[in-house]
Amino acid sequence: MNINELLDNKNGDQIEDLTGWIDSIRDHGGLTFVDLRDFTGSVQLVFDKSAEINAKLKNEYYVSIKGLFKKRDEALINNKIFLGDIEIEVSELTVINKSKTLPFQIEKDIDTDENIRLKYRYLDLRREPMKVNIMTRSNTFKSIRSIMNDLNIFEIDTPTLIKSTPEGAKDFLVPSRKSPSNFYALPQSPQMYKQLFMMAGFPNYYQIAKCYRDEDSRKDRQPEFTQLDLEFSDASPSLVKSNIEKIVKFLFSDAYDCKIDTPFETLSYKDAINLYGTDKPDMRIIETLKDISELFNDTEINFLKEILDNDGLIKALHTEELLTRKQIDTIDADIKEMGSNGLGWFKIDNNEISGPLAKLLNGSEKADILKFGSGTLIFQAGEINSIAQYLDFIRRTIFKPSSNEMYSFVWIEDFPFFEYEDGKLQPSHHPFTSPKDNETFKDDPINAVALHYDLVLNGVELGSGSQRINSPDIQKLVLQKWGLSDEEIDDRFGWFIEALSYGTPLHAGFAIGIDRLVAEVLNQPSIRDVIPFPKTQSGLDPLTNAPANIDENVLEEYNLKYINKDE
Ligand code: AMO
Repeated sequence: MNINELLDNKNGDQIEDLTGWIDSIRDHGGLTFVDLRDFTGSVQLVFDKSAEINAKLKNEYYVSIKGLFKKRDEALINNKIFLGDIEIEVSELTVINKSKTLPFQIEKDIDTDENIRLKYRYLDLRREPMKVNIMTRSNTFKSIRSIMNDLNIFEIDTPTLIKSTPEGAKDFLVPSRKSPSNFYALPQSPQMYKQLFMMAGFPNYYQIAKCYRDEDSRKDRQPEFTQLDLEFSDASPSLVKSNIEKIVKFLFSDAYDCKIDTPFETLSYKDAINLYGTDKPDMRIIETLKDISELFNDTEINFLKEILDNDGLIKALHTEELLTRKQIDTIDADIKEMGSNGLGWFKIDNNEISGPLAKLLNGSEKADILKFGSGTLIFQAGEINSIAQYLDFIRRTIFKPSSNEMYSFVWIEDFPFFEYEDGKLQPSHHPFTSPKDNETFKDDPINAVALHYDLVLNGVELGSGSQRINSPDIQKLVLQKWGLSDEEIDDRFGWFIEALSYGTPLHAGFAIGIDRLVAEVLNQPSIRDVIPFPKTQSGLDPLTNAPANIDENVLEEYNLKYINKDE
């Protein structure tokens, strides 16, 4: 029996075969108190032969007991814990399995190095906070299946040994033993397959899909992660957005017992950058960026004049707090490390302005700055796209969420079709996204807008989707404008363009990052905390030591040879 089932018992009942782990042992002279823990809870056991029990038991032994169910005396009831009003007087104990000395204590609040936790993840998962995280993940899957059934969306699976699907990362490759020199790629997402379902005539699709991206891990990124992936035929962005709102609202109420309001607010990409400095704004922080360029129209501060003359902007944040020199220096150092030239700031106190540039201000600039009232005015000057990330960082550093809402959602749309990443043109979503206007795209692809929409929760990109291209010609054009040669297009995407050529309905879709969703709901610092067996920041698994070396004989079977580039 399990501990939760004890609830069905009454004082004096005989308990048979209660199993669990020894959680703690307290020796009180003639009596020993032991907390027994299982998946459902924990209960106090009482042994009256202390010495014998102490010698026999250690933490994390897995045992089975028989005994007497007893209500505790009124004075001994612990109201703070589940089953704190009962105990079991043990008459028989069987040790089913012993435990070695633990690498760390299982108790919930003990801080342990993450590498050790991951090396012994099966023990880490015995800890209460991790159990809550994984059960919340499990409830998420359960609720997803329930709402998908209600909405009549079909669960269909897609292959994972595929040809590359570009989502902006590098592929994980799998060598083919039977086809020398050829490789499968693991899917970065099921994107092209889910579109094929629409071409094949299915009205919709969903899948809880594993995706693989060989990119640097961060707190919100793993090389292997899980998406709730969806696609709808005869669809538009508004249909997808309204379905996603229904799904998210249901998940929050069913899996997380939390009511959220829909529809969610929508912001254009441009407004998001101008107001928040990011396309992933945390809307719980109400303060927004102010454009103070006009204040400096006649400035004598040379570097500001130069920036304004070159179509740059001066964007500011005002806090009523008089930031200390230390706070200012820390932000300055942080943004410099990100690439900024440094922090611009004025302090306003008792109608006086101070700061490194204060002496250079002219009369009207002084008067305008004083209008902000006392506090600190922080700014960055430059071209908006180059200063946005620093402003976003500053906003999130100096302001705390002030909204009462725990969860704040916002849609971001009207993204530029292309963006520059490390000097290379990349689709801001993926190359199957439909331009908002095909004619504009043909004439000026760099400035074209995409029918791409993101859902942001508390400053985290929770999901992304788009209207898809359903014309083979536009698909080819997009790939050309991306910079692919006709030969590359044929080789990598010829089969897909062919598939688009047989009467493809309009279709659109979306994918929610399930790891990010669960981490955000539980306010966890990293998605690693809600993934049962995650990889470290460097992409390793300390438990199994994957990725591992392959024997030369095996490599040979795969027609592979290891070349050490450093030698
Ligand atoms: P996208 O690449 O934006 O879109 O991914 C959708 C969502 O998946 C999550 N996500 C990740 N989570 C953890 N680790 C990662 N490395 C990682 N990368 C992405 C994010 C993200 O918002 N095929 C499109 C969707 C579509 O157009 O329908 C796609 O995959 O939460």
